[in-house]
Amino acid sequence: MARTGIDTSILHKGAHSASYFDLARAAGEGAEIVDFCIPCNPYFPTPEMFDELSRDLKSILKYYPSDAATITKKLASVLNLHPQTVAMANGSTELITWIDHLLVKESLAIPIPTFGRWTDQPLETGKRVDMFPLQERDGFRLDLEEYVEFIRERKSRVAVICNVNNPDGNYLPRRDVIRFMDALSDLDLVVVDESFIDFSDAERYPSVGPDAVIRPNAVVLKSLGKNFGLHGIRFGYLLANPAIAGKIAKTLPKWNLNSLAEKVVHMISDHEMEYEESLRLLSRDRRAMARELSRIPGLTVFPSQGNFFLVKLPAEWSGVALRDFLVANHGIMTRECGNKLGMTSQFMRLVVRQTDDVDRLVDGMMDYGQRFHTRPAYDTDPLESSSRRWAESAYDEQPDNLIPYPGHRTTEYTARRAAG
Ligand SMILES: Cc1ncc(COP(=O)(O)O)c(C=O)c1O
Repeated sequence: MARTGIDTSILHKGAHSASYFDLARAAGEGAEIVDFCIPCNPYFPTPEMFDELSRDLKSILKYYPSDAATITKKLASVLNLHPQTVAMANGSTELITWIDHLLVKESLAIPIPTFGRWTDQPLETGKRVDMFPLQERDGFRLDLEEYVEFIRERKSRVAVICNVNNPDGNYLPRRDVIRFMDALSDLDLVVVDESFIDFSDAERYPSVGPDAVIRPNAVVLKSLGKNFGLHGIRFGYLLANPAIAGKIAKTLPKWNLNSLAEKVVHMISDHEMEYEESLRLLSRDRRAMARELSRIPGLTVFPSQGNFFLVKLPAEWSGVALRDFLVANHGIMTRECGNKLGMTSQFMRLVVRQTDDVDRLVDGMMDYGQRFHTRPAYDTDPLESSSRRWAESAYDEQPDNLIPYPGHRTTEYTARRAAG
């Protein structure tokens, strides 16, 4: 029996997860939903920044924004980027669309699982999509040498990587991504989607943006909506050499960006410290959440450098049933990954949130485990139960959803890497 009164049939419509607004409408007034589905920055903008935006809302909505070139120029100056190497649009999704229309001619390679638009967009425009399956037994980590070999075998003309990758949270060191770009300098295009890279704390300067703008065929993508916790504004940008960035920028409509985006771009420089602090707090919460989740018996938690975790549910759990149960009984929204290419319903993506919310999620998951499945471990205090971390034990057993892929072979790229 649903305690929140939310009609969960809304979760079963369409290939993408229900939007927060769909769910809030279904829940009705007063219902509080804790969202573990949409990866946000919970610490940014600060309440003071929201107050400033609210104060200016009337003029923001009433008047036209400046044209896209003016807003882009301001963004470049705020972020210290060469203005001719930047093209700005309504989120990285719009840029993916234009990259596909303008720069992808016949084929595109992409590791899966990943963000769905990277497979769906080129398929919708009749391109060949060469999907490189990441392996659960490797923790879904991308081996760049094997990927280059795959691209050569398939003769793909465009190569894409997401760093950090969604949904597994894996991070590729900057030096390896630079080598990857160099190994593929003869392709039409190499795209590094860094929409989540600001959340990574693996190295001080993780972005290959400065390296992309001095290469003939490289593009780096950034999502301001993700970084600044403002998905609703829809803004993002790409970095590339002036010929590529100019081609995209010239194609976009003159007043393509909205006044809220313009307002936030002008606010960034005054709030750099708060932004840095938000990233530090998020890293702290990520470590705490990994610890809490790993206390659920049978749950596999994949290490992440993003603002989300990929988890594999205990074998006897159903991702769809758990997702519906959490919405209906605990007011918690999660992302079950059954509709992602290269995943199954046994996987969930859970965004990083603060301890109180994570406690509520863990309680909800334990409640599901206790009600529907009998496992001796659920009769004990979950905090005293044995943990199962990906790094320790998950791969002792043969995973049940393996997509076979040929093993490692030496390539020209491997040899170059070894020599370097
Ligand atoms: C890897 C990746 N790139 C791009 C996007 C799209 O971001 P935006 O909201 O800026 O359109 C997403 C959204 O989830 C994503 O996961």
